[in-house]
Amino acid sequence: MTISFVMFGPPGAGKGTQAQKLAKHFSIPHISTGDMLRQVKASGSPLGQEVSEIMRRGELVPAELVIKIVNERLQEADCDHGFILDGFPRTVPQAVALNDILLNQRKQLSAVVNLEVTEWELVGRLSGRRTCPRCARAYHVLFSPPKQEGYCDDCDGVALITREDDREETVRERLNVYRSQTEPLIHYYRDRYVLQSIDGEQDPETVFKDIVALFEADAS
Ligand code: AP5
Repeated sequence: MTISFVMFGPPGAGKGTQAQKLAKHFSIPHISTGDMLRQVKASGSPLGQEVSEIMRRGELVPAELVIKIVNERLQEADCDHGFILDGFPRTVPQAVALNDILLNQRKQLSAVVNLEVTEWELVGRLSGRRTCPRCARAYHVLFSPPKQEGYCDDCDGVALITREDDREETVRERLNVYRSQTEPLIHYYRDRYVLQSIDGEQDPETVFKDIVALFEADAS
């Protein structure tokens, strides 16, 4: 069975946390545009510096760049049996571009999984998030701490960092951008009967089980 879906939701909803676990569970790649853009940023190239500035402000990176990255990534062989998109699409024009990409590559989406989390909870999650700069795993100082304080469980000796865009003023801007440009996609995908909403405020393991159940129900 091919499982290809979008993890959708506001900043801090748990898209990355769930996508990493689901990718292992279903043996399909986790494609995070945020992680891929952070790699572009780390390259230090002129494009990387431009991307860095935009992300620091909490705004969206130009669509052409993100669409090109996703189009190329989906052509890789590991996507032939499914994939999880995390952070893309983020606007209606990006969703239209994704339709074209999938049509050209003879692929299709099984679902768009929408994690529902209140804004109050999101702010608490983002302010306590710590991230591994090597494997991108997200921790939380209270809700999901690493075994050894300050260090990634999976990457020997790698110190966790606070993402630059998790500062309070940037978080506010990211939430504004979500409400104005990304949230309309809920209606877009609901109208196309692929939207599956999940209560993202439950503990991470329950959220994971709920998402897996969506696909197991489909398969039976
Ligand atoms: P991106 O990296 O995609 O950030 P985001 O969408 O804002 O999402 P986050 O990574 O902040 O949150 P998440 O939902 O993955 O939550 P997480 O699992 O980490 O994008 C960053 C930037 O890149 C954008 O602002 C933009 O500039 C650019 N960009 C990316 N894609 C783009 C695109 N398509 N077009 C244009 N620009 C683009 O969890 C958060 C915290 O909560 C963690 O601490 C975690 O441990 C904790 N947590 C998770 N689940 C739970 C739970 N159930 N209960 C309690 N705590 C939990």
